[in-house]
Amino acid sequence: MKKTILVTGGAGYIGSHTTLALLQAGYDALVLDNLINSSVESLKRIEAIAGRGLRFVEGDILDSALLEKIFSEHRIDAVLHFAGLKSVGESIKDPLIYYKNNVSGTLRLCESMNRAGVFRLIFSSSATVYGSSSTMPISEASPLGIPTNPYGNSKLVSEEILSDLAKSSKKWKIGVLRYFNPIGAHTSGLIGEDPNGIPNNLLPYIAQVAIGKLDIVRIFGDDYPTPDGTGIRDYIHVQDLADGHLKALANIENHSGLNVWNLGTGQGYSVLQIIRAFEQVSGKNIAFEVVGRRDGDIAECWSNSDKALRELNWKAERGLLEMIEDAWRWQSSNPHGYGNSSRD
Ligand code: NAD
Ligand code: WQD
Repeated sequence: MKKTILVTGGAGYIGSHTTLALLQAGYDALVLDNLINSSVESLKRIEAIAGRGLRFVEGDILDSALLEKIFSEHRIDAVLHFAGLKSVGESIKDPLIYYKNNVSGTLRLCESMNRAGVFRLIFSSSATVYGSSSTMPISEASPLGIPTNPYGNSKLVSEEILSDLAKSSKKWKIGVLRYFNPIGAHTSGLIGEDPNGIPNNLLPYIAQVAIGKLDIVRIFGDDYPTPDGTGIRDYIHVQDLADGHLKALANIENHSGLNVWNLGTGQGYSVLQIIRAFEQVSGKNIAFEVVGRRDGDIAECWSNSDKALRELNWKAERGLLEMIEDAWRWQSSNPHGYGNSSRD
């Protein structure tokens, strides 16, 4: 019998790519998403690519009654928990919404899993939990920091809750995945990142300048202690990230407790390098100007993902140009993203 995975936030950017990978690997997927930052169109496209159906429940992870219903009606083997809010700036303006969705949401989900006897969980965390003074590359043993914003803190607090939970009983099998900077799109060009409003992140911003939706990229500082003065990050292809979830899911089958893995490429690129690579791939001129540093930004951040290689037999396979080619294919063939989404 096929295993059924509950995917919270499965209509979103990373969740949609991972749901597709699950279907392609032979799992059944049940997506729970309130569509606050996504649309059902991504789910239709996943089904089209996979040539298989998935089950979708429109609803909120904060709705305990709905979670009880889902767990009582379906034999769920494990949960991939993507649902949450992810805008750093928004989290500073409205911290309560972030703690409610990301921390209380994770709590409610775990309570319902506990009641239902479902103990396998993969949690979407972020490299943002590491301290800003870490030396590069960052491994799982690097010190955790005090995040400079409520979003980052909501991830750190959620990790701590999961860690306490895993210590409380051997029945819990939890994988925490700390993503570096996910970019790119599925190679088909049918699913990808569809940010709401003006993008906060570099890649979707550049992509929208390339198609003429936005005028100019603002580089947040060129006076960092990096070779060209602009910030360096570890960009990882979203399909590599999706594969990492499947490997983590297989791993926790046989391991009790909580395990943490970095998912990154181990290679950093500067903002200027990304702009140049995007120009090369798209053949478009990307206008940019240098402005002041963005509050809370760090100079550089890249991963040591050896633990994932050792324990999960996972490593990122796709290089920078492939990531940008896929991002550009998605953006240029879907200039309005998923279009008539429910949130528009
Ligand atoms: P996304 O916004 O595209 O996807 C999140 C999904 O969760 C959306 O479909 C949204 O509608 C849904 N959702 C939000 N709150 C919900 C709730 N209360 N109940 C049900 N559904 C809800 O974001 P993403 O980039 O795919 O990120 C997925 C996860 O990975 C998030 O937890 C995010 O914090 C984490 N993460 C993302 C990045 C990144 O750069 N994209 C980096 C590190 C970690
Ligand atoms: C990348 C680089 C910017 C936009 C954020 C979150 C992190 C994680 C991933 C969820 C930096 C520069 C950006 C622009 C720019 N999310 N930049 N002009 O800040 O590394 O990480 O997303 O967990 O928590 O903090 O990603 O894409 O915003 O920035 O110059 O318009 O591009 O300064 O050096 P970041 P990003």
